[in-house]
Amino acid sequence: EQIRKGNFVHFMQKEIHEQPDSLTMTMRGRLIRGGEQKAKGILLGGLKDHLRTIRRSRRILFIGCGTSYNAALAAIPVVEELSGIPVTMEIASDLLDRQGPIYREDTAIFVSQSGETADTLQALEYAKSNGALCVGITNTVGSAIARGTHFTKAYTSQIAMIVMLALALGDDSLSTQQRRNAIMDDLYNLPSKVRDVLKLDKDMKELAALLMDEQSLLVFGRGYNYATPMECALKVKEVSLMHAEGIVAGEMKHGPLALVDETLPIIVIATRDASLNKQQSVIQQLKTRKGRLIVMCTEGDAEFMCPDRTCRIIEVPKVQDCLQPIINIVRLQLLAYHLTVFRGFNVDQPRNLAKSVTTQ
Ligand code: AGP
Repeated sequence: EQIRKGNFVHFMQKEIHEQPDSLTMTMRGRLIRGGEQKAKGILLGGLKDHLRTIRRSRRILFIGCGTSYNAALAAIPVVEELSGIPVTMEIASDLLDRQGPIYREDTAIFVSQSGETADTLQALEYAKSNGALCVGITNTVGSAIARGTHFTKAYTSQIAMIVMLALALGDDSLSTQQRRNAIMDDLYNLPSKVRDVLKLDKDMKELAALLMDEQSLLVFGRGYNYATPMECALKVKEVSLMHAEGIVAGEMKHGPLALVDETLPIIVIATRDASLNKQQSVIQQLKTRKGRLIVMCTEGDAEFMCPDRTCRIIEVPKVQDCLQPIINIVRLQLLAYHLTVFRGFNVDQPRNLAKSVTTQ
């Protein structure tokens, strides 16, 4: 077993640190290289013949569970932007509970790392029987990656995959060409940016040491980082067994603000994108209530985000807004990992959880 873990103490730690490679593998053969660190196009072999049908759909539905659901949630904004098609999200079990409406003009995209999750498979049958075009985003069933991973690297690879799908859907539009080129260039350089983030492991270990005895953790995000708090909270709960809640920052005033005091730790994701001003105002309101703040911001923004230096800062490198959730979650995965080790729980076998949920 130690041989499989290589130089790492736990599999989760290995998976976190392998993400530059898993991202490279996800993009290999799909993100087509130009010269000088640039990319020039997207090639999605399996989907090539269906792109025109998807472009004509009335709606795209992403369907999944847990981390796979969160990955699709993270990529919604760019799919909407580049395809111009309305996108909705469905938790597989909830879609089945409601027997929600699905039509022949819909494209249903199923996201599952294992390809074996019972709820997702049943939702696939349901969508097929309603005549929707069904597409799967999964690791090849039976591949070493599908069997060997269950924690972290699937999330970042799934987001990268859906961003590439958005790029492919939009590649018949001249007006978005510049934007698509910028995203492709950053995708190309993403593995090395993730590598830079992984070097900040010590910083997250220190933060975990500070938080290890807490009962609860709140995480606020919005816009491109709507899903980041959800996935952070899911990971913290599932491995470190600490209560954590991901909250869409726009909802703060509608209830969660009542929880804020000097003791409850709150992570605010406030990396640079169109929501930055709103997140600054969230930070301000939390400070007024003496919130115990940990602010995730873009490199070089610490002073600007928290001039009175009362917040703990987590800095991350800047990439295109739609790829920023990939960078941001890596920092938070490291936090979840170190929290678990400090709290003395089994990192590689979370309590009560199966590797793939094959029953309903
Ligand atoms: C397991 O670590 C995940 N947190 C879990 O939520 C998982 O994403 C979910 O069970 C769906 O699995 P799948 O991607 O294999 O379908």
